Amino acid sequence: MTDLTTAVERTSLLTAALRAAESARDDRLYDDPYAALLVGDAGPALFGEIRAATFRRDGSRTLPSTPDYNAIRTRFFDDLLTTAAQQPGLAQIVLAPAGMDSRAYRLDLPSHLGYFEIDRPAVLDFKAARLEGVAPRTPRRTVPVDLTDPAWEDALAAAGYRPELPSLWLLEGLLYYLPAPDVDRVLERVAALSAPGSTVVADLVNTAALTHPGMSDILEVFAGWGCPWVFGSDEPEELFARHGFAVTATQPGEPGADFGRWLDPVPGRAVTGVPRVFFVHGTRK
Ligand SMILES: C[S@@+](CC[C@H](N)C(=O)[O-])C[C@H]1O[C@@H](n2cnc3c(N)ncnc32)[C@H](O)[C@@H]1O
Repeated sequence: MTDLTTAVERTSLLTAALRAAESARDDRLYDDPYAALLVGDAGPALFGEIRAATFRRDGSRTLPSTPDYNAIRTRFFDDLLTTAAQQPGLAQIVLAPAGMDSRAYRLDLPSHLGYFEIDRPAVLDFKAARLEGVAPRTPRRTVPVDLTDPAWEDALAAAGYRPELPSLWLLEGLLYYLPAPDVDRVLERVAALSAPGSTVVADLVNTAALTHPGMSDILEVFAGWGCPWVFGSDEPEELFARHGFAVTATQPGEPGADFGRWLDPVPGRAVTGVPRVFFVHGTRK
């Protein structure tokens, strides 16, 4: 099977390459034994471009380290998912989008959970080909749709998702690629499909991350690939509250989201004009 060709789809190969590199470290924050299978031919080169944009020749940086950020993000969400999955009420998990996420293969999740992986058809086909013959620990159902297509919810329902049962939605590595109206629509529909008490988890950047001069090298890489970062929010709590979720926004480097790997200061939220990333986690009201 050939590699993915669409820019935003190929970011899944970048994420796989980041996870493969992390898994090879002695001090890794998690082990993803499937990541190396999932990087495709393009993953290492995409990772190389990100590394070159992040680290100058002398090793200095003007922007956060993507490898460390991604390691923290994966571990933070692994822990959140594993803990939430033990709650007796949780019935189903939805990865929106799934990309090359291998949590169904590597995490120890209760067997009664429904588990749904949404992504574009080419991505799910690529993943299926790469993991052919490998059995997931948690049976997963794939939902090959675009999340900006109004029909995506029908495809999820057809795959067996039940909106009346408590769910956990993981929106990891998605929101910065979507124009604001699409972000609002996705959150609105996720809320509509989430029974009260359901969990939502996401990552997103703030608005300064889209414009700050220190970020320009990495922003240019994504724009050059054809999938620019176009969405950020300075008030993620308010963004999610508008859609019926009560969430906390944790920044990497803060307690519980550091793991000894965040190398930069974390200015308080009152400080404006600094690039930020948020891990959002909370519940449907
Ligand atoms: C950076 S990857 C993250 C994937 C996964 N959550 C992970 O962490 O491994 C971004 C993924 O978003 C998917 N994606 C972007 N826009 C999408 C859309 N409108 N509908 C469905 N998937 C989308 C891409 O195909 C890609 O697989």
